This record gives sequence, structure tokens and C-alpha cells, in this order.
Amino acid sequence: MTIPSETHPVGIIGGTGLTTLPGLEIIGEQLVETSWGVPSSALVEGRLGDQSVIFLSRHGNPHRIPPHQVNYRANIRALYDAGVRTVVGVNAVGGIHHDMGPAHVVIPDQLIDYTWGRPSTFFEDDLNEVTHIDFTWPYDAGARQILAEAARDVGAPFSDFGVYGATQGPRLETAAEIRRMERDGCDLVGMTGMPEAVLAAELGMRYVCLGLVVNWAAGKSEHIITMAEIEEAIEKGMSGVRGILTVSMAG
Ligand code: HPA
Repeated sequence: MTIPSETHPVGIIGGTGLTTLPGLEIIGEQLVETSWGVPSSALVEGRLGDQSVIFLSRHGNPHRIPPHQVNYRANIRALYDAGVRTVVGVNAVGGIHHDMGPAHVVIPDQLIDYTWGRPSTFFEDDLNEVTHIDFTWPYDAGARQILAEAARDVGAPFSDFGVYGATQGPRLETAAEIRRMERDGCDLVGMTGMPEAVLAAELGMRYVCLGLVVNWAAGKSEHIITMAEIEEAIEKGMSGVRGILTVSMAG
């Protein structure tokens, strides 16, 4: 990624549908442990275009850790310790905004956190002082722009704005919950955007979300949400996501 990260690898956290990153020229794999525990998967080091990259599978490889049980602190800390200062979080999401249907790519600019009970800060225990980080803009503007340019180049249908509503899961939402989220201003809904974004911010890392809509959110279509529909959208949209990642790293 051509953000000022020359000497640092870019971290890519793959979510549902992106357990591995085809196209990544793999150099090595490291199983690490942090003071916050063990991350979801090995850190896969490689090159994507001109950029050195460290890939981490958020739900493990194979995909087995549900969103509320991901050790987000270990994941972010492991990437930081490996030298990563810019993180691209790839997230499967449900679409609430009328333009954000299945297979649409979204690069959100804001988020609302509805998760609960997840360890969501590095700043607790053994503190010398209480720390409140600024989180006005949770996603890095420069990185968002680079991803948007790459999406344009690749020709993937995308929106370069949106409010990500992070829910607890692992169940999907009720139609009334989605209506409430829409009133709150949410454009998309996912289960993994938080606390990942804030933990990256606490360590001073740049963080950007690359969302792939894999279903209409509950009550936004005529039918209930099926895994078949989600798999079909992943199949259709993930090549665009991979293309965006590759082009954005090309330099
Ligand atoms: N809701 C929450 N998380 C999701 C959804 C959804 O509809 N689709 C993919 N992740």
C-alpha cells in the first residue's frame, strides 16, 4: 500500500471468505504468542505486488473462531510486534443502505459499536495513568482513499462511505434491530469490526475496513438470510476484494 509505510509490512486481517489470500507470494509463516494470548492464526508473511504483507486469518484457518470469541487484542498486538503499522481489516457484512446489496464493496468512514463484553482495550491493569484515545475518525482517510482508487481501477461496485454497525453475534439480527440501526445511521452491519479498529488505534496504527456485503441485512429483503445466499455473494464479490488488495499494494 503506498501509504507512508515503506519499511513496515501492511497487515491484512482476512475474515469470512478470506481465510487465505491467493496471490500472496508466501515467504514464511510464524506461530506467535503475545502478552494478550495467541492470535487466531499463524502470521503469514509474504509479498503482494510491491508491498510486504503479513496476513492473519481472523477466524482461524480453518474458519472456527466465532466473532465474539476472536482474541482481537492478541491479533492486533501480534501484527504490531511483527512491525505492522497499517492494518486492512477485511469484513463480510450485511447491507442496510439501499445501494449496498450483495457483492457490493464498502469502505466505511464511521462506525457504531453495539458489541458487549469483549475485551476491547489494551489500557487496563497495571496502569500508571488512565488513557482515553481519540477515536473521532476510526478509519484512516489516506488508506481509505487508496482502497477506493484501487476499487475504481478494478471495476468493483463499491461505496467509499458508510457507517459500520458492529453487533455481537454470532446470531444475525432481528428486523427490528436492523430498523433501529438504520435510524441510528448505520449503512452496514457486521460482527467483527470492533474492537479490532479501536485496538489498532490504541497502538497508534492506521486502520481501514474493506467490507464485502454478503447479504441484505435482516428485513431488508423479502426472505430470511441463508448461508447459501451468503456463500454465493462471497463467491461473486471476493475476487473484487482480492483485486482491490492487490492493486492497492502495487505501489
Ligand atoms: N449481520 C451481521 N453480521 C454479518 C451479516 C449480517 O447480516 N452478514 C455478514 N456479517
